[in-house]
Amino acid sequence: MKKIAVFTSGGDAPGMNACIRAIVRGAAYHGVEVFGIVRGYNGMIKGDIIPLNSQSVSNIIQRGGTILKSARSKEFMTTEGRQKAYNQLQEFGIEGLVAIGGNGTFTGAEIFYNEFKIPTVGAPGTIDNDLYGTDYTIGFDTAVNTALDAVDKIRDTADSHDRVFFIEVMGRDSGYIAIQCAIAGGAESVMIPENLTSVEEITAILQKGFDKKKSSSIVIVAEGDEEGNAQIVAKKIKDKMGENLDIRVTTLGHIQRGGIPTASDRILASRLGLGALEGLLRGEKNVMAGVVNNQLIYTPFHDTITKKKPVSEDLIRMVEILST
Ligand code: F6P
Repeated sequence: MKKIAVFTSGGDAPGMNACIRAIVRGAAYHGVEVFGIVRGYNGMIKGDIIPLNSQSVSNIIQRGGTILKSARSKEFMTTEGRQKAYNQLQEFGIEGLVAIGGNGTFTGAEIFYNEFKIPTVGAPGTIDNDLYGTDYTIGFDTAVNTALDAVDKIRDTADSHDRVFFIEVMGRDSGYIAIQCAIAGGAESVMIPENLTSVEEITAILQKGFDKKKSSSIVIVAEGDEEGNAQIVAKKIKDKMGENLDIRVTTLGHIQRGGIPTASDRILASRLGLGALEGLLRGEKNVMAGVVNNQLIYTPFHDTITKKKPVSEDLIRMVEILST
């Protein structure tokens, strides 16, 4: 393989730039020509493809976002869109791809391979950490630390005003950010999609705290919780516990997607980027590079897409025990 391309797709994640850098520098080391596809699958369809070299990725390891920009492409979900993308890759002579992204990205790559036989190896880039086949995804650690910084600040004001705060963190289908923030932020409780926590249970936990003269409480809510988002949950709790309960809601939102990547994310991104590239050059395809138990492994896209990575029961239990 002499010409490959790299792209970022789906929600951006801090560390994606470190991953791009590792792929480009790795390609230079192995004597392979490398292109960057701008705006993910949309750029592939339009032929928005640029040559990259070692200098193009100087001074980006510490930057959040992605220099290649990102998108969620509706057109790539159609056969016509994928045909256009294939034609563009042919124009540039691109023989293989490294895709940095999440579930949607790898679903697209698998379909693309089945139709056009362009081999792709993935690097898991999403703040959600919801990909089977890797212990951690690129951007997760930074997102947790960003959210945690906000939780610590909110704790100060919650305590000063004797308030109950519901803090919503990202995670459409996943409670990884929520559970880690709850433990590291000393929250009273956490609500995540992977575990059913009823409004009654939260009410009981808060009441127990008040009985013990706790004056403020923090509940972390993953945006995808089955009881609803933090606004909805807070309203349900207020209805149950009475108007006198002084409740506030904070939704952290996209702040969690930006910022300087932590050392951990930069190292993980570099390892996964190089791992994905070298896998591709060795003939791997339709797989995602991941780090499990500190070993670099490759997991078929099919498994990363269809299998669930469960949140550890230990962590869920810990939140409850440590808040008593
Ligand atoms: O997948 C990452 C993520 O940040 C989710 O946690 C969140 O639900 C979603 O992306 C938000 O997507 P968008 O930026 O398109 O609103």
